[in-house]
Amino acid sequence: EPLIITDKNEMRQWSRTMRAQGKTIGLVPTMGYLHEGHLSLIRESHNHTRLTVVSIYINPGQFSPSEDLSTYPSDFNGDINKLKSVPGAVDVVFHPYNLYDYGGGRGSVEREGKGEKEVGEGGGGGVVVSCVEDGGVGHETWVRVERLEKGMCGKSRPVFFRGVATVVAKLFNIVEPDVALFGKKDYQQWRIIRRMVRDLDFSVEVIGSEIVRDEDGLAMSSRNVHLSPEDRQKALSINRSLSKAKLAAEKGRVNCMELKNSVIQAIQEAGGRIDYAEIVDQESLDAAEEIKGAVVFCIAAWFGKRGKATRGDTVLD
Ligand code: PAJ
Repeated sequence: EPLIITDKNEMRQWSRTMRAQGKTIGLVPTMGYLHEGHLSLIRESHNHTRLTVVSIYINPGQFSPSEDLSTYPSDFNGDINKLKSVPGAVDVVFHPYNLYDYGGGRGSVEREGKGEKEVGEGGGGGVVVSCVEDGGVGHETWVRVERLEKGMCGKSRPVFFRGVATVVAKLFNIVEPDVALFGKKDYQQWRIIRRMVRDLDFSVEVIGSEIVRDEDGLAMSSRNVHLSPEDRQKALSINRSLSKAKLAAEKGRVNCMELKNSVIQAIQEAGGRIDYAEIVDQESLDAAEEIKGAVVFCIAAWFGKRGKATRGDTVLD
């Protein structure tokens, strides 16, 4: 049975006590509605540390007012049951009500009426965190990874990565883990966190974990629950066209423009709306013109009408 901790100070206390006993700690940050992709990060954590903490927190700071904070899926009790089904999977579930609550007075959360939304909360209750222009959390201090956050997801979601980097920095300071695990499904996010850790001297080792796909090939994602069966079928065009592009590249087709165009066309023909399709250097995330060295093909696309439903990425080289 995992220990459930909701209080920041209690969380830090637990970590320090364990550390004093010589035990290493792995952290898997999530926004809940857990699936096999999350569980694979938890399993990977066991390869590196003695103890594993999974955080479940829908972070309002990474949603803009036009995004899906209010409809982001959550099922805390279901998540706990899933974790119980994997014996010894996690030692602690860190489930704070509001990570931006500093205990009242100066520096506490200031709520603004405009664009306020409620965080969907399964079982926990009592959580109201707003989502407004300033990030909705009354913060002044934001971590920005300036170059890496510019392209791809950062283009259509301008406040997204500062919200992610900031909440992950907060989690690192609260949990004080030795190792933190991120999925390569969100490739840019993983790279940004690694860069933040390097640039700000966090003493955390950041590990990237492979994409977990459903049997039909769709990358697992909490948001996939919004896809109708028909849209889900259409969304398979992402992985299919990426796999084809990978094969073509391996056979010597190295022109990125051509490879991108064939993928874009296949997804559009299936009825998808492309957010971006880019072949980038794995380290710098700079656009590549030719396939040489280590590159990654990143895609985000919408299917159906409920906003950004799914995305898929595959490593080409
Ligand atoms: P969330 O979407 O819940 O994802 C939590 C972690 O699981 C991320 O590192 C993500 O890359 C990984 N993950 C999700 N689906 C995966 C899949 N199919 N295969 C492998 N890994 C997968 O990403 C976030 O939450 C948030 O931005 C967070 C980092 C928690 C900050 O709020």
